[in-house]
Amino acid sequence: MAELIVRRAEKKDVDSIAELEKICFTMPWSYESVYQDVVENKRSLYVVAEVEGTVVGYAGVWGIADEGHITNVAVAPEFRRLHVGSAIISVLIDVTVNAGIKKHTLEVRKSNLAAIRLYEKYGFKECGQRKGYYEDTGEDALIMWRE
Ligand SMILES: CC(C)(COP(=O)(O)OP(=O)(O)OC[C@H]1O[C@@H](n2cnc3c(N)ncnc32)[C@H](O)[C@@H]1OP(=O)(O)O)[C@@H](O)C(=O)NCCC(=O)NCCS
Repeated sequence: MAELIVRRAEKKDVDSIAELEKICFTMPWSYESVYQDVVENKRSLYVVAEVEGTVVGYAGVWGIADEGHITNVAVAPEFRRLHVGSAIISVLIDVTVNAGIKKHTLEVRKSNLAAIRLYEKYGFKECGQRKGYYEDTGEDALIMWRE
């Protein structure tokens, strides 16, 4: 793979992130929600992974007191299993820990083994479940924390 750059997301990345949302999720965030979170929300931080000028993945986190609540993590299908997701999570954790975040949390579909394995690789552990959390299928969410 050509050089992978992970950097902070900017306004110019909103189109790419919103497009990846549509490709990667069954209940994607709207363009407006992505814009609001990437550009206007002072508590959020987004990073993107770029290959040859194309955004191929992203992740976002909300800082709430000393907790980092990870919103979404996604990698374009053709770039999966190349450690792009790992690079994104690793940078997101480093940057937020340096900014004073002490623990991270997220929700993930119980059936999403790819994502669960990725999070486990970075120290996240299952700490509970939310029954019927996902409106489209009624699937349960695992709640994971990393301290
Ligand atoms: C989850 C996702 C972000 C992983 O991105 P990725 O770039 O493919 O992940 P990586 O290549 O860094 O893989 C990291 C680890 O996760 C695990 N993993 C990733 N994909 C996997 C798969 N399909 N099956 C099993 N394990 C998998 C492996 O343990 C892997 O480590 P290894 O390659 O050293 O064995 C990607 O599959 C994706 O975008 N999925 C759709 C969106 C989504 O579900 N996001 C999570 C929402 S909570």
